[in-house]
Amino acid sequence: MVKLRLAIKVLVAALLLGSCTAPSKTEIRKQESVSLSLNWDTRIDSIIQKLTLEEKINLLHGTGMFWSGGVERLGIPELQYADGPLGVREEIERSSWMPMGWTNDSATFFPAGTALGATWNPELSKRYGEAIAQEARARNKDILLAPAINIMRTPLCGRNYEYMTEDPFLNAQMVVPYVHGVQEQDVAACVKHFAINNQETNRGSVDVLASERAIREIYLPGFQAAVMEGQAFSVMGAYNQFRGSYLCENDYLLNKVLKGEWGFNGIVISDWAAVHNSVNSAKYGLDIEMGSNLPFDQFYFANPLLEAVKKGEVEESLIDEKVKRILRVMYNVKNMDLARKKGSINTAEHSEVVYKVASEAIVLLKNKERVLPVDLSKVKSIAVIGDNATSTFALGGFGAGVKARYEVTALQGLKNRLGDAVELRYAQGYCEKYLPGKENQSFGRDIDYTADPALIKEAVDIARTSDYAVIVAGSNRSVESESVDRKDIRLPFAQEELIKAVVAVNPKTIVVLVTGAPYDIREVDQVAPAIVWTWFNGSEGGNALADMLLGKVNPSGKLPFTLPEKLEDSPAHAMKAFPGDDTKVEYLEDILVGYRWFDTKNIDPIYCFGYGLSYTTFDFAKPECAETEFTANDTIHFSLQLTNNGKMAGAEVVQLYVQDVQPKVTKASKELKAFQKVFLQPGESRKVELDIPVSSLAYFDESVNQWVVSSGQYKLLMGSSSRDIRGEKLITVK
Ligand code: BGC
Repeated sequence: MVKLRLAIKVLVAALLLGSCTAPSKTEIRKQESVSLSLNWDTRIDSIIQKLTLEEKINLLHGTGMFWSGGVERLGIPELQYADGPLGVREEIERSSWMPMGWTNDSATFFPAGTALGATWNPELSKRYGEAIAQEARARNKDILLAPAINIMRTPLCGRNYEYMTEDPFLNAQMVVPYVHGVQEQDVAACVKHFAINNQETNRGSVDVLASERAIREIYLPGFQAAVMEGQAFSVMGAYNQFRGSYLCENDYLLNKVLKGEWGFNGIVISDWAAVHNSVNSAKYGLDIEMGSNLPFDQFYFANPLLEAVKKGEVEESLIDEKVKRILRVMYNVKNMDLARKKGSINTAEHSEVVYKVASEAIVLLKNKERVLPVDLSKVKSIAVIGDNATSTFALGGFGAGVKARYEVTALQGLKNRLGDAVELRYAQGYCEKYLPGKENQSFGRDIDYTADPALIKEAVDIARTSDYAVIVAGSNRSVESESVDRKDIRLPFAQEELIKAVVAVNPKTIVVLVTGAPYDIREVDQVAPAIVWTWFNGSEGGNALADMLLGKVNPSGKLPFTLPEKLEDSPAHAMKAFPGDDTKVEYLEDILVGYRWFDTKNIDPIYCFGYGLSYTTFDFAKPECAETEFTANDTIHFSLQLTNNGKMAGAEVVQLYVQDVQPKVTKASKELKAFQKVFLQPGESRKVELDIPVSSLAYFDESVNQWVVSSGQYKLLMGSSSRDIRGEKLITVK
C-alpha cells in the first residue's frame, strides 16, 4: 500500500514537471520547492491537455460512496471524502452504505454544530476545525464534509443539531475560522448544504420560495463568509429546489451568486444522490456528482454526461473548467505533494479541544437559590437519574455519526470526577419508547409519551434520600435525525412527569437537557430550580458536564437560538409556513427569522437568543463611542469596561445589537452585529472593544438589488443576551 502510494506520487511529480520518466527522490525534493514558484494554473492547463475526455469525465463523479475519480495513468489520485460534522465517520464500503467493519477507524467525537455555536467563541471554532481535519488527514481524507451551516429556520428541523444557529452573523463569525482551521491541515472543507435547505420534510423535492432580501440577509451570509473570507475549497449543493430549480442545477445560486458574485473558484459537490439531470447540472454550476444510486458509471456525471458532450449538448470547455477546479483543489490540499500534513487521530490534544468546546457550550438556563454549583462539602450522595445519563450520542438515527473511540456519559463523568468521595445512585427514570410501527427504523418513529410509573418510583426513591438529584433527560439521536423533521417540540418519553415527581421530593434537583434543537420546557421551568442545557457534546461531554455541575467549569455558553414558549410562537409556524405542501414551501416570515421575529412581534420566548447564566456576575459599564455621526464607509468603534464582580473566574459574551430607530422599510427590531467572549478573573476589569463597519448596517434593497445603508438614527444595544440589554448609544448615519 505504502509502495503503491509512493509510486503514484512519483508519477504525479513527473507529471507536474512535464517529464515522462519518473524522477529520483532528490529530483522530487527539488520539484517540491520549485512547485511553489511555478504558475499552477498553467500547469493545470497542461495536465488537462493530457487528459482524454473519458478521463476528464471520470474526475467528475463518485467512483465509490466516498471517493470521486482519479486518473491512474497520470498518477492523479482519487479524492477521498469523509463526513462530517460530528467527527470523521467510520470507513464505508465502496459500493454500499455498509461500514467496512475495520477495527482501526474509530475517531474523536466532536461536539455537534449547535454546541460549537453555543460557545460563541470563534477561536475555539478554529481549533475545532484544525483538530477534526487532523483526524481526517490521519485517515487519508482530502475533503471533510463539514461544516454544516444552514440556518435554523424551524425548531423542528431534524438536522438542527448539525447546524450552528438561527443568526446569520453568529454563523458567519463561527464558520470562517472553522474553515481556516480545516484547510490549514491540507484538507478541503465542504461547506454544506448550499444553500436554502432548512427542513428535511420533502427535502428531495421541495421548492423553497424565499425573497431575495431574506436569502441575502439571513440564509446566505454564512456561506458567503465561508467562501469569501474563509476561502473554502468546496461547497455541497443541497437536495431541495430553490425557485423552481434543484440546488445542484441552480444557475442563479451556483453560477451567478457563488461562482460569479463571490468569485468561488473551488468545487461544488452534490449532496449524495441530489443530481437530477446531466446537462442541467453541468451547465448550471455543479462540478462533482456524489451519491449512492449505483452503478457509478451510470451517474448523471458519468456515461450520460460523456454522451451529452459527444452529442454536443455540453461543451467540452465546460468539462475542462470543472476539471480545472478539481485539480486546483487537489493542489490546494497538496494531495500530490510529499510535504502534505499527515494528521493525527484520537490524540490527547484533540480530546482537550473537544473538552474545551463541550465546556464552553453548556448553557446554564436557570439557577434558583444557587443550587449550582454542587457544594461538595455538604454532599454525601447524589441521585443521577435518566436514560440520557448513560446514553451516548456519537451514533444513532439516520446519517453521519462517528465510531467514537470513547464517549464519556454523564454518569461516567460524575464518577470520574467524584470517585468514591460521593455516593452516586443511578435510576433510569424514563426509557426510550416508541409507538408500534417502523420497528426496524432508528429514526422518525412516533414517540410514546406515556410515563413508566415503576421507573419513576425507583427514581423518586433514590432522589428522596439523596442530597442532590441530577436528572439527565432531553433528546437523542433517534428523536433528532437527518431525513425527518420532528412532529412537535415536546420533551420525549414523558420526561415532565419524572421531573415533577423528583423535584417534589428533592428541592435540590438539577435538570440537564441534552438536545440539538429547541424543546418546550414550560413545565420543567415551572418546577425545576436549576436547568442546564447541553448538547450532543462529544467524546468529553460527560466530563465537561460534571465539571460544570461541580463548579470546576464556570458555564459560559449562550443559546445560539431562541427557545420559544411553544412551537406556534416561532416564525415559520406562526405564519403556517412549514413544511409547505408536497411541492413547495414559502418562507413567509421573510427576514424575521429567530429572535428577529420574537423581538419585532413582541412575543416573549421562554429563554431568548444569546441567553446563558454564569456562576459569577459581570458589570457592564456605560458604553463609549467617541463619535456619534458616521457615513457609510466609516467604522463605529464601540467600547465598554467589563468587570467580573463575582468570586469566580468566568466568561461573558458581550453582545452588540443594532436597531434602526425609524426604519424606512421593514426591519427586525434588533440584529446582532458584533460580539466578543471575554474571560475575566474575579475582580478583573477589561476594556472590551467592538468594531462595527457602518456598511454592516445595510439591508438588501430588492428594488435596486443592492445593499443599502439607510441614513438616520440607530441604537447600539449592548448586553448579555438579546433581551438583557445593559447599555445603549444612539448614533446617526448621514
Ligand atoms: C447528507 C450529507 C452527507 C452525505 C454523505 C447526505 O445524506 O445530506 O450531509 O455529507 O449524505 O453522508
